[in-house]
Amino acid sequence: MEKKYVAPPYRIKMVEPIKMTTKAERIQKLKDAGYNPFTLKSEDVYIDLLSDSGSGAMSQHQWAALMLGDEAYAGSKSFYHLEKVVKAITGYKYVIPAHQGRGAEKVMLPQLVTREGMYYISNTHFDTTRAHVEIAGARAIDVVIDECYDTENYYPFKGNFDLEKLEKEIKEKGPENIAGIIMTVTNNSAGGQPVSMENLRKTSEIAKKYNIKTIIDGARYAENAYFVKEREKGYENKSVREIARELFDLADVFLMSSKKDGLVNIGGLIAIKADVDLYQKCQTYIVPMEGFPTYGGLAGRDMEALAVGLEEALDEDYLRHRIDQARYLGDRLRDAGIPIQYPVGGHAVFVDCKKICPQIPYHQFPAQAVCNEVYIESGVRAVEVGSFLLGRDPDTKENLESPLEFMRLTIPRRTYTYAHLDVVANAVIEVYKRRDTLVGLDFEYEPPVLRHFTARLKPIK
Ligand code: F0G
Repeated sequence: MEKKYVAPPYRIKMVEPIKMTTKAERIQKLKDAGYNPFTLKSEDVYIDLLSDSGSGAMSQHQWAALMLGDEAYAGSKSFYHLEKVVKAITGYKYVIPAHQGRGAEKVMLPQLVTREGMYYISNTHFDTTRAHVEIAGARAIDVVIDECYDTENYYPFKGNFDLEKLEKEIKEKGPENIAGIIMTVTNNSAGGQPVSMENLRKTSEIAKKYNIKTIIDGARYAENAYFVKEREKGYENKSVREIARELFDLADVFLMSSKKDGLVNIGGLIAIKADVDLYQKCQTYIVPMEGFPTYGGLAGRDMEALAVGLEEALDEDYLRHRIDQARYLGDRLRDAGIPIQYPVGGHAVFVDCKKICPQIPYHQFPAQAVCNEVYIESGVRAVEVGSFLLGRDPDTKENLESPLEFMRLTIPRRTYTYAHLDVVANAVIEVYKRRDTLVGLDFEYEPPVLRHFTARLKPIK
């Protein structure tokens, strides 16, 4: 079948060689890495789909902007450039840079946790967001819609809030105990799934009704706005920039890992619409945590590159190609009968490994087994998003069971071609053919927290 795709709106000016390895080499490398692709050396990876975070390519304009970096400790010109761009996109009054998304979370989230027994509610908290909610002494509640768990059935906005669950949680816990509502756009953990404007508007209305602050976790806000334009009635003729602005109008705070839709290799942001008290608290707190408020852990040159990248990420030709790459890879897998989170989200294809390997129970990590086999097959590195990542219950120490066992094939921005994606698809299809032969994994070494990064595993014979 002929495959259609959206050709890229850029050409290649500089190339980065990547190493080709043999299957025998990869079997050995993976064994040495404790059957955990996180601990592989990247030079032993052919196509790296571990993350879309900071792994993309900068444009010639961004590389040129690096040379304009003002490295002054305080009051850097580059900060004022970045601030101007962020203010223009968001309409927010206050901007503080951070070294990356979790730096922004670490500084801002504790400010709303004013006493014990508080909660943040999100469609789905990203792992680091959840971690910072908990470190701040609050608890994280997810209220994503049930459609999200039904991987193979089409639903245009699987990242949406379940509004009934949201209101029920607010009433049950008491509105005064809700530190904030976090809108994760797109919803990474649900499969990079978009959230509709209608759903965000209603979420924001509920928040206003109970006098609760709303925070956008907008690592991939431009991709979300693009999906809204494509799929939501009434938005066809609006620009992505206008849609994004409408989104910002609904919230009070914007936290961003700029390593995604900022198109940079490092960077993060806190932007606050109007609350001067909250701004001053963040400004005070960022000094010991990240750095002086006009650099927040970034070099002047990083802020220049980010100022340019934020604009480029709103370019609709760029977004059309970007979103199409994920769609293309997803279609190739679906055509081969492989179950995936459908429709495909913005930054990755999430393969449903619970369905592929029903013989492997959750506590033997079916998605990790598939990731490992895909690496051996082709040198492609994917990442597990399932029970291996979820960890153990802090009280009982039992392995937690994730509702979904995903292999995430995450596509870096402006980095790989459709030919690379064909290599990925062919590898996954080959592994799928021998899925019955895959076995589960057991720990050789298990770190007490965030185990998936450094654990060593062994296949169960
Ligand atoms: N929020 C979301 C929705 C994210 O996806 C991430 C990072 C963060 C916050 C934290 O940002 O990494 O800059 O500190 N996601 C990466 C990923 C790591 O691979 O999905 P960070």
